[in-house]
Amino acid sequence: MKYIALQNQVKMPALGLGTWKAQGQELVIALLEAIKMGYRHIDTATIYDNEIEVGQAIAMAVEMGLCTREDLFITSKLWNDRHESHEVLPALEASLERLKIDYLDLYLIHWPIAFKSGVVLPDSASDYLPLSEAPLLDTWLAMHEAKKTGLTRAIGVSNFTPNHLSLLEASNIMPAVNQVEMHPLLTQEKLRAYCQDKGIALTAYAPLGSTDRAEGMKSTDEPNLFGVAGIDKMAEQYGCSPAQILISYHISRGDSVIPKAVQTQHLADNLKAAEITLSASDIKTLSELNKDYRFINGHFFDCPERGYDWVFSE
Ligand SMILES: NC(=O)c1ccc[n+]([C@@H]2O[C@H](COP(=O)([O-])OP(=O)(O)OC[C@H]3O[C@@H](n4cnc5c(N)ncnc54)[C@H](OP(=O)(O)O)[C@@H]3O)[C@@H](O)[C@H]2O)c1
Repeated sequence: MKYIALQNQVKMPALGLGTWKAQGQELVIALLEAIKMGYRHIDTATIYDNEIEVGQAIAMAVEMGLCTREDLFITSKLWNDRHESHEVLPALEASLERLKIDYLDLYLIHWPIAFKSGVVLPDSASDYLPLSEAPLLDTWLAMHEAKKTGLTRAIGVSNFTPNHLSLLEASNIMPAVNQVEMHPLLTQEKLRAYCQDKGIALTAYAPLGSTDRAEGMKSTDEPNLFGVAGIDKMAEQYGCSPAQILISYHISRGDSVIPKAVQTQHLADNLKAAEITLSASDIKTLSELNKDYRFINGHFFDCPERGYDWVFSE
């Protein structure tokens, strides 16, 4: 397994297991299978409502002698209703309580958008907190204070554009990681250049097109990543599947990637993909497919009345 070196000598396995939309016993079984196969990096979040199951699987894996807690790299995320400074440490503590572990390896601000405390998903503009009331820099400084307690080894952000990240520059401590949607139709060149310059590692989410999202979250003309031009032929050349090409694309570019899977065959194939290295010319061929297309376009958080125009606007 390749590792990404984060700040302060923290090492993150380049391939992690995504868990959004995975629930209950199906998730516990998939996590145990994954850990048995060799996965060591798990991505969860408060909003996924599955930290308890992730914690159960971790405890079982340790109990069964499959790994130690220290072998694992566990990420969770601060939800949008906990951005006010005094909310950050209690939110981290609550995640640890659900996960039944003593520390996280990485804690991320999930979105650069703030809701009022207790609002899981907003119904109206009054559920949002404008950034003047919950500035991203203040949330970030509170994350830094939370890290000082030792309850998380690293801190970072998610869904931040260069504009959002530039607001954090005043703190002199940049995020260890920015977790964003990334794949050949959304290669994030501008963001990658900014992050490389600032020493921020990028993690690719929805690397397979997030095909199991609720239908209501999908556009009617959504592209199929497995069918993008030339990917079949490339997969044939490497003796693998299009999904494995899509995963190895990120690791070959030097980024990390967290495909979600619960089916045993998917788990095994995705782990194998981490060992495939694409040539520079194949990486270039895939990157040239870029269309700045987002499967998760963030428009569901638009709220101009509270100063939230499209979150991904430049
Ligand atoms: N920070 C954020 O805002 C954010 C947003 C979205 C996602 N994420 C994270 O990123 C992870 C990945 O993104 P995602 O879950 O949206 O979508 P994804 O990983 O792009 O796609 C998941 C879908 O692909 C299927 N799949 C997995 N491996 C496959 C393979 N080898 N061949 C064919 N199909 C395969 C899965 O099936 P099975 O499950 O049936 O095996 C599932 O239906 C999430 O789970 C979450 O941890 C973060």
